[in-house]
Amino acid sequence: MTSSQKLSLEKLLPLFGIAFSNETLDPQAIFGRVAPLVLEIGSGMGETTAEIARQNPAIDFIAIEVHGPGVGSLLKKIEALELKNLRLIRHDAVEVLERMIAEGSLAGIHLFFPDPWPKKRHHKRRLVQAPFAALAARKLAPGGYLHAATDWPEYATQIEQVFSSSTLFEKELQAQKSRPITKFERRGLGLGHPVRDLLFLRRKE
Ligand SMILES: C[S@@+](CC[C@H](N)C(=O)[O-])C[C@H]1O[C@@H](n2cnc3c(N)ncnc32)[C@H](O)[C@@H]1O
Repeated sequence: MTSSQKLSLEKLLPLFGIAFSNETLDPQAIFGRVAPLVLEIGSGMGETTAEIARQNPAIDFIAIEVHGPGVGSLLKKIEALELKNLRLIRHDAVEVLERMIAEGSLAGIHLFFPDPWPKKRHHKRRLVQAPFAALAARKLAPGGYLHAATDWPEYATQIEQVFSSSTLFEKELQAQKSRPITKFERRGLGLGHPVRDLLFLRRKE
């Protein structure tokens, strides 16, 4: 990170960040209202995250990102756009889900272009595997959605298999959730990568 990126991060994180904690967070206290809550995992530089929040003022969003420059970039966007419905946690997303998110409390989870880990020996590092689907199922409200996108065809197949083989999810075939293009996606499209969006709904049981 450059020193100016560091400075803005130190200034803005206390304003728009939520500190990682082992306590379940209280969205009503954070946002000052009762509203559907959507979590984004790996918001990157945050352009799409901020734009989605701007377009959906009735929904509250929490972005999770570990990468310092990305965190700083999204914090600046929250400030510039005066977004009251978007906050950010700088921490590992799995730990945040496990510790900070109440069971059955999420209206949705966004997972846009998770790291593909293309080398076979690194596949075990991929986020979307059966334990992640089980965790997401616990945290989503019945009828809540998981919207994933990737430009790595083989990872798209893995995501599809993981969620299709969970009895807790059903694939949403009809509605295609639209979303603004992401920074990582733009790069992938430039390289000719095919982008796939996948949408799964948490079964109501
Ligand atoms: C390939 S980038 C995509 C970023 C953004 N969604 C986009 O489409 O431009 C994946 C991002 O996920 C973040 N990430 C990966 N694993 C994470 C984890 N366990 N917790 C939080 N962020 C994570 C990385 O730091 C990176 O910024």
